[in-house]
Amino acid sequence: MKYSIITFGCRVNQADSLGFEEALLAGGAEATSPDRADLVVVNTCSVTAAADQGARQAIRRVARDNPSARIVVTGCYATRRPDEVAALPHVARVVPNDDKPRLVPLLAPLVLSRPMGQTSADRFGDGEGSCGATIEPGVAGRTAFTLRVQTGCAESCAYCIIPTTRGTPRSVPVAELLREIARVVAAGFKEIALTGVHLGSYGRDLAPSVRLVDLLGSAAAAAERHHVLFRISSLEPMDCTREVVDLVASSPCFAPHFHLPLQHASDRILAAMRRPYSLGDYAALVDSIRARIPHASIGSDIIVGFPGETEDDVEQLEAYLERSALTHVHVFPYSDRPGTAASAMNGHLPGAMVRERARRVREIGHRLAERFRCSQVGTTHRALTLDDGTLAVTGNYLKVKIPPGFARNEWVRIRIRDRDVGEVIG
Ligand code: F3S
Repeated sequence: MKYSIITFGCRVNQADSLGFEEALLAGGAEATSPDRADLVVVNTCSVTAAADQGARQAIRRVARDNPSARIVVTGCYATRRPDEVAALPHVARVVPNDDKPRLVPLLAPLVLSRPMGQTSADRFGDGEGSCGATIEPGVAGRTAFTLRVQTGCAESCAYCIIPTTRGTPRSVPVAELLREIARVVAAGFKEIALTGVHLGSYGRDLAPSVRLVDLLGSAAAAAERHHVLFRISSLEPMDCTREVVDLVASSPCFAPHFHLPLQHASDRILAAMRRPYSLGDYAALVDSIRARIPHASIGSDIIVGFPGETEDDVEQLEAYLERSALTHVHVFPYSDRPGTAASAMNGHLPGAMVRERARRVREIGHRLAERFRCSQVGTTHRALTLDDGTLAVTGNYLKVKIPPGFARNEWVRIRIRDRDVGEVIG
């Protein structure tokens, strides 16, 4: 049986797909492209209308190019709109996020040639278990392993649909994560991205409760002698505490890399978005990280065109980004998600205006990224090789072109000697 997995959305979805992959491989299935597969799993996202549309297009493409494939659809779009998804051509099954741990076991009698390993079934997906860990580095192009430590979100950001698709926060216990990290390291992974739907809320639901920084400390202690690098995924600004920054600054186990979604730099819009911080709080956090870890990459997400956003708000956003120490920004044009608080607000903006504002802000983002790349010329880094060994990624998330002759998934010491469009040369 040949399978293919198409994944949209965030690192949490990537972690879930990695779990499907492990279970399918353990059951004797073989990876291939979507047009040759007997089974195509589409793991969808629904964070924007464009994400929904991307999933629909992918499903239709598979149905057209490979009409005999069994298409199974899961993820946030499948959870939010199961009937709409089930009506798409050749969709054999729709599996909501909560049933992800059962996705492969449900399909096993139909598509697997061997019984699944006893432990595979409960180790992935959106249940309380963490995701799988025994596939090798390099499978499906991955060098870093993405480990989901929690799922669910109890926040109420006005624009966000995720709490309805991922449910309430559920954390994986520390002991289980440490076992998972040991398996990942034994499988040969040298970089582990720690991720969650609301990563900063890690452990609040456990009894006794645990803080994210405690998990980070335990993970570092367990993996230190293996020279594993942990990369902390997107962290809400209010959850990026001084202790977390201190730990990243002081331990070589952590990549000097932060992703702190700002969403907007107008306090008026932040309040309307129900984000629990002001621009002043955010700017102070970014400045303190930059002062503490001069080479850190600090990324952000921005939403442009939120209902009621004025030209003045956009100018405040542009002015902050221009003077900020951020190194890259992902810009999202506001996308209406029916059922959210923002959807019911007045002041929705015309699409052309939102797109034009997004273009302006993206231009600043390109300049910030270029400025960061320039600032790193002449510095040296430990980096992990990717692909055929001619690319490597540094802890501060620079993609570096390196001379041929290195193996994949190896630590190398790199000096950055120049920069090019979108990358640097080492
Ligand atoms: Fe998308 Fe769901 Fe992640 S909406 S961003 S796949 S939590």
